[in-house]
Formats: sequence, structure tokens, C-alpha cells
Amino acid sequence: MSAFALPSPADLGAAVLARLDELASITDEPGKITRLYLSKSHRRAVTLLESWMRDAGMSVRLDPLATLIGTYPGSNPDAPHLLLGSHIDSVRDAGKYDGTLGVGSAIEIVRRLNAAGQRLPFGLTVLAFGDEEGVRFPSTLTGSAAVAGRFNPKILDEKGEGGITRRMALAEFGCPEGDPAAPWQGQSGLGYLELHIEQGPVLEAENRPVGLVTAIQGVTRGSCRIVGLAGHAGTVPMAMRRDALSAAAEMVLAVERIGRETAGLVATIGQLRVPGASVNTIPGAVEFSLDFRSEIDAVRKEAEARIRQAIEAVAAARKVEANLAYTYEAPASKCDPGLRLTMAEAAESVVQKPIRLLPSGAGHDAMSFRGKLPFMMLFVRSKAGISHSPDEFTSEADLGIATATFFRAV
Ligand code: GLV
Ligand code: MN
Ligand code: MN
Repeated sequence: MSAFALPSPADLGAAVLARLDELASITDEPGKITRLYLSKSHRRAVTLLESWMRDAGMSVRLDPLATLIGTYPGSNPDAPHLLLGSHIDSVRDAGKYDGTLGVGSAIEIVRRLNAAGQRLPFGLTVLAFGDEEGVRFPSTLTGSAAVAGRFNPKILDEKGEGGITRRMALAEFGCPEGDPAAPWQGQSGLGYLELHIEQGPVLEAENRPVGLVTAIQGVTRGSCRIVGLAGHAGTVPMAMRRDALSAAAEMVLAVERIGRETAGLVATIGQLRVPGASVNTIPGAVEFSLDFRSEIDAVRKEAEARIRQAIEAVAAARKVEANLAYTYEAPASKCDPGLRLTMAEAAESVVQKPIRLLPSGAGHDAMSFRGKLPFMMLFVRSKAGISHSPDEFTSEADLGIATATFFRAV
């Protein structure tokens, strides 16, 4: 490799921001950013990224679970690859940085190398995953799990909202058929690096543009259906009701209490549905979601049991039926110390001071590689720690510093 001058942070920040702005215009809800897995807007984002990857000198393919894979061979075409990636799906009414930053910056890095005629002693593979948020189906991180070699065929028959299975949605999306279980290039991955916004307040509070991730906390997700007895809001005396919504309300508070009382645990009920609700009907059924996380797997496993007991106790007292199912879990996952050193050296040379270490509260595609490939994440400062919101913000200057760090580490 001949001498190659790394682009300036300012130059990289502007280029990456332009990509994020363009991706942000691809949405299923005009005026908001909503790009769920296997949606029409996800399809349009894949088409855009395909063109970006080709322009950056990569060959491109879509895998059977809708991960877009761009490859840029090394100086020796048979050399193993370093994987760079993140996700292009979003939550509903999202911000424009979550996930897209890791993909947009990786493509920009490859484009710069290619434009300068640079090949590295290893290949680069850019992965644009589509199922990181897990908003549509019970399981999540399925694209990165398959690439890492931990595909679970049961996910194909999982049903999402509206009763559509993942298998149907993949076919409609136009994914190639094939064995998603085949790990990407077998043993030849060197490691996986991901750049992501922090989505929390720590870096901003300490006036630091970037931070090094130590580990990603584990997660359990689930759903619960409460069945009581529907009835007329005017005729059934209060003492004779089996109101599913009132029972669910007590359960929501019980789950929150467990989250508050347990050190190292966060617990969230993010969705609550009252199917067929009317103003003058006692709710007969309610469904809600569960999401709880911890850096310590034993704490999370104990919470699974405590939350189940709490929900069953409310159900018994209120004479409703509670059907709780834990539908997805991933253990806490540690970043690789060797890759952390590489990332630290790169960050220190850009930022000119020691870099903070911090754990990740959010889940990331990187955790799919636990036990399969060494992985490392770099976080960049988020304004006010806000994420999963249109108010999500990272400055252009910070995007530049983070991308320059990531580039140097590569
Ligand atoms: C994704 O953002 C998650 O942590 O659920
Ligand atoms: Mn994300
Ligand atoms: Mn997210």
C-alpha cells in the first residue's frame, strides 16, 4: 500500500452527513423517519445503498435475510475480510443517525480508499443489516445473527403485526432464496467493527466526542396477552368486573417497580394494545410487550422469573388470564480487548486525549458476533442522550471525528 493521507474529520463529517440526510428522506411515513424491516422504504434504502456501494468500488449482493453485503477485496483477493456494519431499519418516528451512521461511514471509507487506488492487506466487507430494531417481528438482530453463523430457522415462521410471517415478508421484499445459515465466508472474517451514536448522555456530559464500548447489555423480550371479560360500561357493577386493561395497568406498574428496585436492570413496556376497544366497553383483552435488559445475565434471568410471578399474582387477584411468553433473548456481549486497543490508539490520535470506556445500554448488531468473531464498537456523542426520536442529533463535527477515528482504526 502506497502512502495514503487520511481525509480530514471536517471533510468526512460533511460527506457522511450528506449520506444520512439522503437516507433520512426514505421513509414509509411522510414527515417522519419510519423504515421498518422488510418495508417498502427498507427496499428503497437497499436500492440506494446498492448504488453507493457500487460507486465505492464494491461488489454487492443481498442475502436471504435482506442484509446488503458490499465487498472490497484486499491487495490479495483471497485475504480474509474485516467486517464493518450497522443497520438501516429504524423504529417508528426515528432519528436519522441510529444505525445509518455505521453503514454510511463504512461506505464513505471504502469510497475514499477506492478513489485513491488503495487496497489493504485484508478485504473490507460492509454489512447493511435490516433487522436491528426488532419492531416488526418477535426476534431481532436476525440478519447479523445469520451472517455470524447463528441462524435459527424458526424465525422464518414467526408472525409479525397483521399476522404476516417473516418468510412471506422476505419473499415479498425480493430476497434471494438460499441458506441463510451459511456463515459469511466461513472462517475468513478478521473481526467486526461498528460505529454508532451513543444514544445516551454520558459522552456529552463529559464533553467527549467519542467513546470506546466495553460490552453490550443482554436483553429479554416478550409479549403478554391478558384475557378478562368484556362487558357494558354502564351495566356491570365495579365489583363484578374482570377488566383486562385495569389488570394490565397494575402489571405495567409491577414491571416498572421491579426495574427500579433491581440494581443493574432496566425494564420497559413499550406497547399496549386494547383490540377492538370502545369508549363504553369494559376491555376484555389487552396485549403488551416487554423488554428488559442487564449487563449481568444472572440479574436478567432472575428478573424473568420475578416479572412472571408479579404478572401471575395480579392475574390471580383480578381473575383474568395472563399468557406471558418470552420470545427473544440475547446475553450480554463483551467487545474484544485487542480491537479496543486499536480503536483507542486511533481515537487518541484524532482526539488527542485519553478516551473514555463505556458500556452500551442499547442492543447492536455487533452482539450477534459474540463467540464467533472479535468485535468492537465506537460510540459518538448524542445530544442530550436522545435517541429513537426525531430529536436525535449528533453534530457534523462529531460525525467527522468519529469517522476519522474509525477510518484510522481500519
Ligand atoms: C435497539 O435499538 C435496541 O436496543 O432495542
Ligand atoms: Mn441502532
Ligand atoms: Mn435503535
